Amino acid sequence: MAVRDIVRMGAIGLLKPAQPVTQFNTPELDALIQDMVDTMRHYHGAGIAAPQIGVSQQIFIYELADNPRYPNNTQHSSLKVVINPEYRALSTQQDEDWEGCLSVPGMRGLVSRFTHIALTAYDQYGEHYECELKGFAARVVQHEGDHLQGILYPMRISDLRHFGFEDELIKRGNV
Ligand code: NI
Repeated sequence: MAVRDIVRMGAIGLLKPAQPVTQFNTPELDALIQDMVDTMRHYHGAGIAAPQIGVSQQIFIYELADNPRYPNNTQHSSLKVVINPEYRALSTQQDEDWEGCLSVPGMRGLVSRFTHIALTAYDQYGEHYECELKGFAARVVQHEGDHLQGILYPMRISDLRHFGFEDELIKRGNV
């Protein structure tokens, strides 16, 4: 029902571990998730975490569709609500790819992530679920999960020569 302001890198709120959700299926939680959906779609995010709109709770959402910010992604997923998540790698294999973040506007960085994970979480009604994710979806879940731990993707870049403004990286032939 509202596009909220995005908290940007540098704000202390993005560096704090978020609190677990204890009350499910409430009007307040529904309203928060609706604001997250509206904000994510407005800014063409693939996902968004509650701390990015100033709420320090363990909630993120993601939705993979044709997205101008990620033109190379062909993997689609309907809107997913992920609360109090835990994940584990199902393979030691990691892949490097370019990531962006609504809290780090205009920039991209090369980040290594597990390619195959198992995610357990709750939805907004308090239903527990588990799923396996690969590729871009696994990457997005690890990126958004990091937000709930106070970690931003630039902290995961092993070689900072692979971090920069998106338009410059495009000129260089990356991204
Ligand atoms: Ni992000």
